[in-house]
Amino acid sequence: MSKRMDMPKGSGYDAWLHYHRDRLIEKMPAWCRVIVVHDTDDEVLQTAASELQQGLASMFGQQPKMSTIPVHVPFVALGTFQDHSCIAERFSAEEQAEVSVEGYRIRGVEAKKLADSTGQDHDDIKGQCVIIAGQTSKGVLYGVFHLLRYLQGGLDGKLKPTAKESLHAPSLDLLSNPANPIRMINHWDNMDGSVERGYAGASIFYNNNAFTTNMERLRDYARLLASVGIQALSINNVNVHQVETELITDRFLPDVAKVAAIFRAYGIQIYLSINYASPIQLGGLTTADPLDPDVAEWWKTKAQEVYAAVPDLGGFVVKADSENRPGPFSYGRHHADGANMLADALRPYGGRVIWRCFVYDCKQDWRDRKTDRARAAFDHFKPLDGLFRDNVILQIKNGPMDFQVREPVSPLFGALEATQVLLEFQIAQEYTGQQKHLCYLVPQWKEVLDFDTYAQGKGSTIKRIVSGALHSNSESGSHHRKATVHAGSGSFQEEPTNHVPKGTSFGIAAVSNIGADTNWTRHLLAQSNLYGYGRLSWDPDLSADEIADEWVRLTFSNQGKDYGDPELIPTIKQMLLDSWNIYESYTAPLGVGWMVSPNHHYGPDVDGYEYSMWGTYHFADCWGIGVDRTTATGTGYAGQYFPPVAEIYESTDTCPDELLLFFHHVPYTHVLHSGQTVIQHIYDTHFEGAERAAHLQATWISLREHLNELVYEQVLTRLEHQAEHAKEWRDRINTYFYRKSGIPDEKNRPIY
Ligand code: GCU
Repeated sequence: MSKRMDMPKGSGYDAWLHYHRDRLIEKMPAWCRVIVVHDTDDEVLQTAASELQQGLASMFGQQPKMSTIPVHVPFVALGTFQDHSCIAERFSAEEQAEVSVEGYRIRGVEAKKLADSTGQDHDDIKGQCVIIAGQTSKGVLYGVFHLLRYLQGGLDGKLKPTAKESLHAPSLDLLSNPANPIRMINHWDNMDGSVERGYAGASIFYNNNAFTTNMERLRDYARLLASVGIQALSINNVNVHQVETELITDRFLPDVAKVAAIFRAYGIQIYLSINYASPIQLGGLTTADPLDPDVAEWWKTKAQEVYAAVPDLGGFVVKADSENRPGPFSYGRHHADGANMLADALRPYGGRVIWRCFVYDCKQDWRDRKTDRARAAFDHFKPLDGLFRDNVILQIKNGPMDFQVREPVSPLFGALEATQVLLEFQIAQEYTGQQKHLCYLVPQWKEVLDFDTYAQGKGSTIKRIVSGALHSNSESGSHHRKATVHAGSGSFQEEPTNHVPKGTSFGIAAVSNIGADTNWTRHLLAQSNLYGYGRLSWDPDLSADEIADEWVRLTFSNQGKDYGDPELIPTIKQMLLDSWNIYESYTAPLGVGWMVSPNHHYGPDVDGYEYSMWGTYHFADCWGIGVDRTTATGTGYAGQYFPPVAEIYESTDTCPDELLLFFHHVPYTHVLHSGQTVIQHIYDTHFEGAERAAHLQATWISLREHLNELVYEQVLTRLEHQAEHAKEWRDRINTYFYRKSGIPDEKNRPIY
């Protein structure tokens, strides 16, 4: 059994895995007393068994016995259909076929007799048993975590039997398959121990330009991730600096291999971010031109070395030609040239290239009103659709800009018809309060996933695009597309070699929000974002409410005077559910972004990015505000969407209020669909937002007697800061717009 780090109660270290049993369950159900798992070399299956044993032991204070064969008393058995006949016989062929590669079935049975591994029947075995089955041991592991969640509160999103029923094995019967084949987390950790956009302490992977020696901490992290179905992890920053460039060399590969082994046991595949200029920096070549045979050869040899050290490495993550990082543009090449060259090097080992689409001109002249950063990803990558190898995946940020509190979805989703894609979210709250403010991001992510692009008519939602479902149902993926590459800008001589995306290289990635702080996320309530991201990437149909409900129960069910206090759960849940909207109201009105302090991005600075080179403007003057992105009079960005979305955004009559200033420049007196003018909306939301932030703090204080002191204190300090800081936001924004517009607040509240 793996060792876990010992941390004080109430520290938050155990997060949602503290395993307190549901308050209605008095003693261990009979079927939990014995765990049956066949003798196996499969590490993930061993992990599954040991997690189940640990979980049950801490829930019931009693260690379940392990057995390699079915015993004559009730038990819980785990295994794959293929390797374990006593598991397989509980499910029909159709039922087995319904389980996807990483899915699982959990079934309670009233066992009259059960066969053992040799296929022999034991007539005398009776009682309630539970079977956790998958096609693969990863599926079984996810099933184990599901069962443990279930026993803690009789819950799982939509499946909420009463706790009493949860004891009764035969009433258990469920099937769960992940919607997204890839469910990934990206670390922006640097080897000096810093974390780019990290708000929870130092890196857990590195320190002082070396790998950590604290493998327990990494293992505990792997448990957290696997418990919510994460199975891919890139372990270094997409901005690959000097030392990190050497991660793919002998200097660090043995360490990478050790880390990979920790995560492998939890079914998680490691990826490395690479420096596109490695052939120059490491190889002493004079170029990194993707079409130079020496460069391609260098990467092939490199891939061989890397895979000799880590045979199951997921592949490389690449940020190229983006924010001053090197890339194929330096050689007049396209991104497909760059990505495909790397993909060919990784192909023999089953490796993938995850190529980021965050490519834009970061040296823009603010006087230039025509160049629009929002257009960039589409303009760069749409013409390359169909040209990528089948082990290349394009990773696209959820919005066209950069993780603002409110953005439309990236129009590249759906526009790429013959290319595999990963959606990129940011769990770290770079622009949403940096884990000092409470901002439960699941509602924002839900809006993105549920958004209908109309790419192939109604129902072409983002979640169907990123899961690969839309592709597998469409014609577009079934033939090789010929891409149009504009003359003068292209380097393609040949017919594209892309093959049909098979639907396995799609999914979601997100930038991590954890660090070396004891409670992982500094703001304890920000753990809900990590949990929520994992659950949502498994099942995008779960609601923000259901996920919040699960997380709050799992995290707080041991708190309160009464075990699983009935007040506590809904109150904290409501705080989470309100928080994104609250944050938006006192910060960024109507889809305008970037009114933050430059560089660190914390706190209000309305003109902080207005005269910069980053392409991030709001164009506020004394008459109005917003960016005209229409096709009629603006940058044409609105036209990158499919109809009818393009038309909806094109007109102020139909553009939703919350995105108005993203798409239109309007006078302050423009009347919104809400009936309010733009300026009055700014004043109202900022006054209300600050009040609601204060209310969050007051609500938390009202829960004091129900909460563990340590838990209470760590959240309280954050909420106090938030309430104060929200006032600063309110006054700065309101004052700025009052001074610009000269229009007073109808309600005559203090503006400076
Ligand atoms: C944002 C962020 C950077 C990061 C970049 C990226 O711009 O501020 O720190 O490197 O996104 O996603 O590559």
